[in-house]
Amino acid sequence: MKIVTNAFAIGLGLSLATTGAQAQNAALNTRIATLAAAEQSKVVAWRRDLHEHPELGNEETRTAQLIATQLKSWGLEVQTGVGRTGVVGILRGGKPGRVVALRADMDGLPLTETSGLPFASVVKATYLGQPVGVMHACGHDTHVAMLLGAAEVLSQVKKDLPGTVKFIFQPAEEGSLPGVVGGAKLMVQEGVLEKPKVDAIFGLHIWASTPVGQLTYRPRGEMASSDRFTIKVMGKGAHGAKPWASIDPVVTAAEIITALQTIVSRQVDLTQDAAVVTVGTVQAGVRYNVIPPDATLSGTIRAFSPETQQRIWAAIRRTAAGIAAANGATAEVGIEPYVPVTFNDPALTAQMLPTLQRAAGTDNVHEIKAVTGAEDFACYQEKIPGLFFFLGGMAPGADPATVADHHTAGFRVEESAFPLGVKTLATLAADYLSRK
Ligand code: NI
Repeated sequence: MKIVTNAFAIGLGLSLATTGAQAQNAALNTRIATLAAAEQSKVVAWRRDLHEHPELGNEETRTAQLIATQLKSWGLEVQTGVGRTGVVGILRGGKPGRVVALRADMDGLPLTETSGLPFASVVKATYLGQPVGVMHACGHDTHVAMLLGAAEVLSQVKKDLPGTVKFIFQPAEEGSLPGVVGGAKLMVQEGVLEKPKVDAIFGLHIWASTPVGQLTYRPRGEMASSDRFTIKVMGKGAHGAKPWASIDPVVTAAEIITALQTIVSRQVDLTQDAAVVTVGTVQAGVRYNVIPPDATLSGTIRAFSPETQQRIWAAIRRTAAGIAAANGATAEVGIEPYVPVTFNDPALTAQMLPTLQRAAGTDNVHEIKAVTGAEDFACYQEKIPGLFFFLGGMAPGADPATVADHHTAGFRVEESAFPLGVKTLATLAADYLSRK
């Protein structure tokens, strides 16, 4: 408490020349910074505990229990079982105002950990019928721990918060089992952005190849949309020695695969957005001298704007149907949207950039190239303005080219990254609420 009082005094002292509201905000920021730094030992303890006990998507019951217990202990209103295992904490500030959400994802991955950390996971589970190890191989353990830290910090300055903060602990960011709706999409369907209605949302991802102390972001399309497509080509089977008796789906599929390459290279405005169309599977036939009756392709589409995404969908449908028709075959195209574009609202991003710069120092905040991976934070951003950014987790001086990357068994990040994450999350919420 003593430290807090001193920091408050310093904050006020520095702000004498500014307006009353700015001075209050600066004082609040200073208190948050001090409290966030003091949170580190707890954040590390939560993170190690979570890391040692990872849970697969939609099974995060122990994680949810830990989160709910902590949030309740700080006086937050807590909802559990949101989107299956998700937890929502509501912190009502002492003054009226808007509602801002902060989000962390909770799930681990089916990998057997080889990081060598003293708190490495030895957890085993079954995934799609296979025995697997379970590991926090994407850093979602650190996200939960840092958001808990931010929740405790903000609960300590609650009476000075002009508005409400909703803490969203989300299951299954990495995806649910085939055919199952989960993650952000399910939480949104179950009303996580309502009651009270959320005005804006912030979230972060720790990043193994960005140095500790840095924050990176991109306005507009930051991470790609991810859609799965399948193309079933239906022709006519025949003896391999008599191809004229067939409508060959293998040759037709090959032509389609080649033609799909012109979608990105010739039909997308590459000065606006990057895009990807990848065919990942080709299945046809069982025997070398039999022309099969059909062939099936599947692949992934990545785009950075809904317009480009729609354009690619139309181009795939047109290309498959046209080439099939030219060969006397037919093609059935299925497109399954999986995750939309992680789209950082340009106005909100511009508005909050000074907050990131104050938290990390101007020289430590960088705009990055678009990332072709996907992130289901995008599902919140489809409904309300949001900003998703990256937090450096790489040891200073390490080579980004050789770090153990996300989704690998050796994945690791530095705990010294956490104080900046806690401070930035808490300050984003406070600054957003303080702006009129
Ligand atoms: Ni992740």
